[in-house]
Amino acid sequence: MIYIVMGVSGSGKTTIGRLLANALHLPFYDADNFHSKENIKKMAAATPLTDEDRQQWLETLAGNIKLWSKEGGAVLACSALKEKYRIILQSIPSDALTWIVLKGDKIIIKNRIVERKDHYMPGSLLQSQLNELEVPEYGIHTDISSSPEEIVQDILEKINKPLSEFGFIGMGVMGTNLALNLASKGIPVAIYNRQVMGIEEGIAQKVADDNPDLKNIIPFDDLQLFVSSLSKPRKILIMIKAGDAVEHLLFALTPLLSEGDVVIDGGNSYFKDSERRFEDLKAKKIHFLGVGISGGEEGARNGAAMMAGGSLEGYKIAAPYLEFMSAKDKNGDPCVGFTGAGGAGHFIKMVHNSIEYAEMQAIADVYFLCKHYLKLSPVQMVEVFNNWEEDGCESYLLSITIQILQKKEGNDYLLDLILDQAEQKGTGNWSATTAIDLGIPYGPLMEAVMARSVSARKKERNKLASLYADQPGLNKKTATITVDQIKHAYKSARLINHHIGFDTLQKASDIFKWDLPLAEIARIWTNGCIIRSALMEDLIDILSDTTSLLSHSFIIEQLKFFKKDFVSTVTESMKNDITIPVLASALNYFLSIKTADSSANLIQAQRDYFGAHTYKRKDKSAEEYFHTKW
Ligand code: 6PG
Repeated sequence: MIYIVMGVSGSGKTTIGRLLANALHLPFYDADNFHSKENIKKMAAATPLTDEDRQQWLETLAGNIKLWSKEGGAVLACSALKEKYRIILQSIPSDALTWIVLKGDKIIIKNRIVERKDHYMPGSLLQSQLNELEVPEYGIHTDISSSPEEIVQDILEKINKPLSEFGFIGMGVMGTNLALNLASKGIPVAIYNRQVMGIEEGIAQKVADDNPDLKNIIPFDDLQLFVSSLSKPRKILIMIKAGDAVEHLLFALTPLLSEGDVVIDGGNSYFKDSERRFEDLKAKKIHFLGVGISGGEEGARNGAAMMAGGSLEGYKIAAPYLEFMSAKDKNGDPCVGFTGAGGAGHFIKMVHNSIEYAEMQAIADVYFLCKHYLKLSPVQMVEVFNNWEEDGCESYLLSITIQILQKKEGNDYLLDLILDQAEQKGTGNWSATTAIDLGIPYGPLMEAVMARSVSARKKERNKLASLYADQPGLNKKTATITVDQIKHAYKSARLINHHIGFDTLQKASDIFKWDLPLAEIARIWTNGCIIRSALMEDLIDILSDTTSLLSHSFIIEQLKFFKKDFVSTVTESMKNDITIPVLASALNYFLSIKTADSSANLIQAQRDYFGAHTYKRKDKSAEEYFHTKW
């Protein structure tokens, strides 16, 4: 299709034409650039062109229109004032050429001509152009009093261009791969990335250029055009950095949306922000979904796990697309679901990451023991972990660890070259502070976060290591615990970590009245996400029976069986200066939570002693408080 944007000088043909070409992904041409030198000289001298002057120019354009049409289309900005000029330009079948007529008030046009500095056409020629203009009855007529973007939006609506079904904002690793994932399923998608000169330029276009097979990806760097390219109700997935960036984006995006549109924040946003955004957009009758997405780059491209919270109505609209982008469980069902109102989706993702942090550190603890206590080589560790995988420990995180252990760079193992300073993006911290706020004991997570913080103090560790001269390692000739005992400790820590994760979900569900479906969340987490594992498969059934894993007979039986080895592993590690933050913390949690009579009576007595904070008594009613003059 050839689109000719026509109108008098100053009506905005070039600006509108360029934007339209951008939105339609067609090349843009300006008819002014096809004038002969003589014509340009005449116009610059404020001498109106005659029909003879225009003849050659129009014929050249007509030839090019034929050519551009064969090449797939174009947008041409051309005054085309008279019908007889348009007849010359109509060098292709009429259904292959659309006329877009810009109409507007003479004063507006004159002001625009006065303002523009880089054009040879003086304002004095406007009247002669207006005199010559024969406004066609055909074509798309649009008023030029609004902004260029609004005019283009109006044109796009009028030309009935096929719209994209789903939009993505933010072409980072996750956004790009999710867009490619959906586009590869044949869905027409629009992608947008902001344009920041010198930093982020032409990013969306590059994604489209890098994937020439996916012709159903339409790139934008103009937010308004991106929005207008989407069919209603619009479904827009935002994948940008959590925090201020989401705030600013929503501020710019919301006014461009219509009632009933669905905005999906797929980043790792803080659940309280999602709660607030859900309410803000609800007031504007726009559906907001906070969707926790897990699976990294590979999951985004081939199928991720997605936990949606917010507007149920919005979820129903977006669900078919989210299902396309999700991983599938062992029954072939999509690993995505509506899990609760407000910020529930992002809360669940935060807990996913809590389990993830502790699972990662538990493997790191085991690796450290194997390395410094059992003195295993990487090859031996790979053999051990492969055996563990076959004995119920199968998980994505353990399987990537096996790959990592084997990676070499020349003669060296890459792992030995990687600096031992762990970084973090923030979800672990949020989880830790949220657990404290909600009064949820979450030792293994705290220790996993703290382990990263301690690791960051490399210089201090180096100094103290030499001051204390205690390097981790076996202090005796032979190890007194075996690989199997360590495996039992690892399995125990995992059970406890998963117990606390789901317990956190249950407590939050009670507090925020989310009614979280724990078994369904476990099902969603069986594929696509970072914490997928054989254990997670088992938890679906267990969580259908109970919300407390530690109270389930299957778990009780296992923990009782493993306990001796769990304790031996932790104590033996401590004796040998081997730090195992998550294994130790999980054991301590386990021992504390199953202690009926704890030491907290002394804490209460101390509080009452120095602060008259009062205490309750075992031998009196549960509501009554007492104070003693100690
Ligand atoms: C996932 C991951 C992912 C994680 C980032 C940053 O589920 O795909 O949890 O979302 O948040 O990889 O993790 P760090 O906090 O370790 O930087």
